[in-house]
Amino acid sequence: MTKKIVTLAGDGIGPEIMAAGLEVLAAVAPKINFDYQVEAKDFGGAAIDRQGHPLPEATLEAAQAADAILLAAIGGPQYNDAAVRPEQGLLALRKALGLFANIRPVQIFPALQHLSPLKSEIIAGVDFVVVRELTGGIYFGEHTLNARDARDINAYTYEEIDRIIRVAFELARDRGKKVTSVDKQNVLATSKLWRLVAEEVAKDYPDVILEHALVDSLAMKMITNPSDFDVIVTENLFGDILSDESSVLPGTLGVMPSASHADNGPSLYEPIHGSAPDIAGLGIANPISMILSVAMMLRESFGEIAGAQYIEHAVDKTLRDGVLTKDLGGQASLSEMTAAIIANL
Ligand code: NAD
Ligand code: IPM
Ligand code: MN
Repeated sequence: MTKKIVTLAGDGIGPEIMAAGLEVLAAVAPKINFDYQVEAKDFGGAAIDRQGHPLPEATLEAAQAADAILLAAIGGPQYNDAAVRPEQGLLALRKALGLFANIRPVQIFPALQHLSPLKSEIIAGVDFVVVRELTGGIYFGEHTLNARDARDINAYTYEEIDRIIRVAFELARDRGKKVTSVDKQNVLATSKLWRLVAEEVAKDYPDVILEHALVDSLAMKMITNPSDFDVIVTENLFGDILSDESSVLPGTLGVMPSASHADNGPSLYEPIHGSAPDIAGLGIANPISMILSVAMMLRESFGEIAGAQYIEHAVDKTLRDGVLTKDLGGQASLSEMTAAIIANL
């Protein structure tokens, strides 16, 4: 059966890296007999420019009817003071599709080890996953902005915490059997509930170790002792910050993919980074984050394990060949990197 993939290229480097991801998909598909069609839709700033709204009705409907969604990046400085921002479209899409479980893997390609700003012995063997709650918390509480005061409400229900903690335990069961639950339990009520729920859920997973960490010191340990972690689970805002921080380990945001899952319906795959306006249009963005998001899609939405591995091995080989984009200290352009990965498939 033909799989329907909706693509949301968005803004900045978005269209460039989406094209690269789709080229790699087109190259791997015949090797695994993967039959698919792509439907490109307006999203983010591009949709504001063309249709006046960051998440047009037709885009949402197509996304809901898709078998999987690929998203590149949205946003840009031209929208900073606009009444409606591209980011609102992204949050509305995540909410509408119920994409509460955001999986952000952190691993170090051996070829990149010496390029990390951290010492090789610190990052050797790093392999963890940040599980970020994506449809709750302070992102979705009421926001009030007046001239002389402002507030953002952070709220979580028991059920919202329970389901994301379970995602983390299920993942850990198939990996290193350790969950680090991150909160600010010494201050926040939401974090006190978070920790209690984590303790409750842990009773169902006696084979998995649960440890708790406060977000401030965890932010430090992620850099000083990154190989201590297996699955890190945390609320929406902490997960946003910690996952960008984790990109310091491989040395660039440009290699960081993600998957977002709902209880039902299509999953969405996107790099963790943004639209990189500082390098947009220059043809020098690193497409690996998008290409590895395609690999995650093949594995997690379509069970195409071999296809995912072909892509991941090709990326690994390309980096070992010394093909590096500017963010990795190299000279390769986006198209040279993409072509090299395809040649290594
Ligand atoms: P950013 O992630 O876009 O960029 C941060 C830095 O990383 C920049 O120096 C950029 O050049 C670099 N970078 C990011 N991706 C790269 C890649 N693939 N290759 C090489 N270098 C890369 O963060 P920002 O500049 O703070 O945000 C820019 C815009 O993106 C904002 O409007 C923000 O809201 C939006 N944003 C969107 C998403 C998304 O679409 N999911 C995620 C994060 C930020
Ligand atoms: C991300 C981004 C988004 C977030 C922004 C663009 C709303 O930073 O996907 O990590 O904060 O979730
Ligand atoms: Mn982010």
